[in-house]
Amino acid sequence: MNIQNYNALKNYAFECLNNNKFECSHVERVLNYGLILLKYEKQANRDIVIAACLLHDIGKPYAFDMPHSPKGAIMAKDFLNKMGFDSAFVNGVSDCIATHSFRKKNPPESLEAKILFDADKLDMYGSMGIVRTIYYMQNEAIYNIEQGLPIKPQKDNLQSFYSEYYNKIKAIPQRLYTNKAKDIAKKLSKNMEEFMDNLVEETEYNYKKSKSIFDDFIK
Ligand SMILES: [Fe+2]
Ligand SMILES: [Fe+2]
Repeated sequence: MNIQNYNALKNYAFECLNNNKFECSHVERVLNYGLILLKYEKQANRDIVIAACLLHDIGKPYAFDMPHSPKGAIMAKDFLNKMGFDSAFVNGVSDCIATHSFRKKNPPESLEAKILFDADKLDMYGSMGIVRTIYYMQNEAIYNIEQGLPIKPQKDNLQSFYSEYYNKIKAIPQRLYTNKAKDIAKKLSKNMEEFMDNLVEETEYNYKKSKSIFDDFIK
């Protein structure tokens, strides 16, 4: 892809996302993962993957009548057609965007779509995945309490960051398609699990240690 087209696509994507720093930096990281995966998936059409990574979340601020993936696919098609790209490229990019969300009914089919899917999911995994999930869940509980103690992540099935971590984030590696993404996920999982172990330990200390002191001080 030439630099002019790259800049045009990136500028359009950032504009659609209202230059929101949280979303735009996610797009940058997804593109970076996409480039890394492309290095190992030599048969993939590079330009399709690069364009799909840049445009994949453009539907987010406009997803009123449908989820952001199909919405973004329609918007990308319009934009790329107006820019004069050929129909194979336009359809290739739009198919990737349409299938990049976690939906069993609509899995990615082309190699390019699988690369976008993996690149996007890697940014929901590891330390970054934890930060992004907490950011998205800022109005929800981090954990739920049972008998005076925080429920452990693997047992917390109510709405909370712990349950999101255990039920969704931790399961991401099983959903990945490319070998390189699975490799990267292994490294990320170490960071993530270490962080979660520390978080659970700190939280338990906070609750358990204070319990007898509370009973002494507050009668
Ligand atoms: Fe998305
Ligand atoms: Fe995304």
